[in-house]
Amino acid sequence: MKVLMINGSPRPKGNTYTALHEMEEIFRQEGVEVEMVQVGNQAVRGCIGCRKCGETGQCIFNDVVNETAKKFEECDGLVVGSPVYYASANATLVAFLTRLFYSTRFDKTMKVGACAVVARRGGLSATFDELNKFFTISGMPVASGQYWNSVHGQMPGEAEGDKEGLQGMRTLARNMVFLMRGVQLAKEKYGLPEREPFERTNFIR
Ligand SMILES: Cc1cc2nc3c(=O)[nH]c(=O)nc-3n(C[C@H](O)[C@H](O)[C@H](O)COP(=O)(O)O)c2cc1C
Repeated sequence: MKVLMINGSPRPKGNTYTALHEMEEIFRQEGVEVEMVQVGNQAVRGCIGCRKCGETGQCIFNDVVNETAKKFEECDGLVVGSPVYYASANATLVAFLTRLFYSTRFDKTMKVGACAVVARRGGLSATFDELNKFFTISGMPVASGQYWNSVHGQMPGEAEGDKEGLQGMRTLARNMVFLMRGVQLAKEKYGLPEREPFERTNFIR
């Protein structure tokens, strides 16, 4: 069983890392393979809507998005961590996720998703909602914790003091492992849910 973790902070060892690392330790204790990809400090441009990925199955910009696509395909669970910037996820991370989810054609159904958001003070639950939407448009069940998966801190290391926030990360990781195991058993017993051909209706008058 594998979990892919995405660090959307430009600070590789900042507070987002502290939150993600708390989860990583639980995954390892539970025998789950983990890989963390550092995204927030890379130059990731946004989607240009060229739709070439519809033909090729990969993004025309060959960067960390295409490098991560294979890892995403192989994982059972995806954790996305972001610092809050103006009550939103970090823009580099949003560019990355938009292109990753849009360009990849493999079935994401029942890969378990979870996000962790980190801020000095506010905008956490708006960012939490924003990130969860990537999972819920993709047939991915969302693991939940004991709060809205948030950790407080400003300067790197400050998150260490948010004991409740870090406990929430550990709870989230344990719940996620449980859910991934449940999905694995259900897949073996029942297979994935039937999927109808996509019915696309655009709202145009
Ligand atoms: C451009 C920018 C915008 C920010 N906006 C917010 C915000 O809306 N709310 C908040 O509480 N903190 C805000 N912060 C503070 C960061 O969320 C906080 O420092 C966080 O710990 C950064 O995580 P990191 O250490 O992983 O980079 C902002 C920081 C920056 C640089």
